[in-house]
Amino acid sequence: MELTLRNGIPINTRLLQNTDVQNLFNYVFSLSVETKSRFGPHLFNRETIEQICNNKDDVMRYVAIDESTANIVGYMLFKQGMIYWDDKRYAERNQYFNYSTTVTYAPSVADAFQSSGLGSVMYNEIEKELRTKGIKHIVLWGGVQATNERAVNFYKKFGYELYGSFWHDEKDNLDMVKELM
Ligand SMILES: CC(C)(COP(=O)(O)OP(=O)(O)OC[C@H]1O[C@@H](n2cnc3c(N)ncnc32)[C@H](O)[C@@H]1OP(=O)(O)O)[C@@H](O)C(=O)NCCC(=O)NCCS
Repeated sequence: MELTLRNGIPINTRLLQNTDVQNLFNYVFSLSVETKSRFGPHLFNRETIEQICNNKDDVMRYVAIDESTANIVGYMLFKQGMIYWDDKRYAERNQYFNYSTTVTYAPSVADAFQSSGLGSVMYNEIEKELRTKGIKHIVLWGGVQATNERAVNFYKKFGYELYGSFWHDEKDNLDMVKELM
């Protein structure tokens, strides 16, 4: 899907491919320490990136390509169903989700592109696709750190609602969920 950012940069959003190994490795390698402290759905070493690009599993991985450089500048994961720890935490609050209509979401955008509108245009396109697949709930992967103001605002902008909070890794975290009507 071809998109244009506010600053005029042309972006192509698509699913990750097996030819993306070096590009994705460069992307995760260049993320700042702060971004990595907010986004960590898997290890970022070469072996893991190769496995991710070559294996089919229950995670849909979307990338945004800056058409002017061919670099990956955004990487968003949507896992079918829920991860164990998220499911357990929600269940302790008597909040249950149907795995066949629920995905678990972890977004990231390259540091230089954060607050550029990239996350929004990318998310909007993917959410449309999820609707056509019959997805009803999008749950945050491991929640969001309460101090991550940019991400919390991003989720609120798209209608994510607070389902609970929890203490993890000496930080306050929020469980937020988007219900697709
Ligand atoms: C969270 C993230 C994916 C959002 O993508 P983005 O491209 O930066 O977001 P956008 O530019 O599309 O902005 C979307 C909304 O986020 C909020 N936002 C953006 N920048 C912000 C900032 N500096 N401070 C506060 N809120 C901000 C605004 O509500 C904005 O909406 P608006 O542009 O209509 O005002 C991205 O910032 C990122 O990768 N952050 C680091 C990793 C991370 O935190 N991942 C989430 C883990 S739970």
